[in-house]
Amino acid sequence: MIASQHQPAALRPRFAGLDGATWLVSHSMGAPPHAAREALARYWEQWAQGGPEGAWPGWLDDARAIGDGIGAIVGAAPGTVSLAPNVSLLQSALASSLDLRGERNEIVYEALQFPSLAYVWQAWERAGARTLRVPTDDGRTIPTDRICSAITERTALVVLSHAYYQSAVLIDLPPIVARAHEAGALVVLDAYQTAGIVPFDVTALDLDIVVGGSHKWLCGGPGCGWMYVKPQLAQRFRPMVTGWFGHREPFAFEPPPIDYAPDQLRWATGTPTIPGYVAARAGHEIIREVGVATIREHNARLTRRLSDAALERGWTVNTPLDPAKRTGWVGIDVPHAEQVQHELHERRIYVDHRPGCGLRVSAHLYTTDDEIDVFLAAMDDVVSR
Ligand SMILES: Cc1ncc(COP(=O)(O)O)c(C=O)c1O
Repeated sequence: MIASQHQPAALRPRFAGLDGATWLVSHSMGAPPHAAREALARYWEQWAQGGPEGAWPGWLDDARAIGDGIGAIVGAAPGTVSLAPNVSLLQSALASSLDLRGERNEIVYEALQFPSLAYVWQAWERAGARTLRVPTDDGRTIPTDRICSAITERTALVVLSHAYYQSAVLIDLPPIVARAHEAGALVVLDAYQTAGIVPFDVTALDLDIVVGGSHKWLCGGPGCGWMYVKPQLAQRFRPMVTGWFGHREPFAFEPPPIDYAPDQLRWATGTPTIPGYVAARAGHEIIREVGVATIREHNARLTRRLSDAALERGWTVNTPLDPAKRTGWVGIDVPHAEQVQHELHERRIYVDHRPGCGLRVSAHLYTTDDEIDVFLAAMDDVVSR
């Protein structure tokens, strides 16, 4: 039973953008909390009143605290989560900290990975990496055994998606993590599609590196990517993609070589994008306050309603029917799905479309049963025409 203060009716007034719109697209972009606007106004005040001397120390403390706040959502200890504008940059920094000239230079990743990460890893072939792309048969999932057997003594990293962005399928992490560690490889998990909607614990899962962004289920808007690094590994990385904010004392302006920050700022590069970070904090706080397990319970009920209703109408459901086997959205395919999505958008019903999947439709902490009804009624109308 979800407590009354955590029911959608109680939470909705804390978000903008929900009145007059049906927001079923939190797997792509969560709704903006009003508190994010207040945080940006505070940031502006600090900028205006503090000047550089006054503002920077507090802003760097904010970057640490916001990383810790994300860590508390995914089971990471304080001091282990770094921020950056996006995950692609963090992956490049990670790649730049590996020695890819030796025997252990293979990067194993799945064919269903989000393209940006695959672009990064493939590009590092120019620096000696050998990428191994594990194929899919059906475009929806990749057998766990197949990923495990691609891992060898030459594997440096196994880069995984916690849930696939085109099929929502959750992967079975423990056997892959065990196989990677047995072979002496590190696991990198892309949790963009799950952080804030699927409960998981990076420490209990013994993950080495986990990345994600803030603008989907964490309701933090764009500009606040994050990376967890297991504390036992943190000091071994010396990223070549770096900059003065990654230095132990950035304002000492010391000559090279860089003396890396001992904490999570080690992964910082140049001047950090503070507005993106501070705007994201409000979303993180609401997710922590309500709790991912509670959000998941609500999400599972509404998305089950969605998939049942889609099947009753003869539409194709391209995601697992069991909520426990998928992240928080349902893939519904109908003829001309992309056109249908545009027509829904004109009615301010926000879902999105991905090739091979159809419409991606999700429920989050603020989604009501009425919104599911609004979506289904609009679909009945648009699809029938
Ligand atoms: C699974 C996944 N990984 C990564 C990204 C984006 O990465 P970046 O932070 O580099 O934009 C997305 C989508 O925005 C995604 O769905």
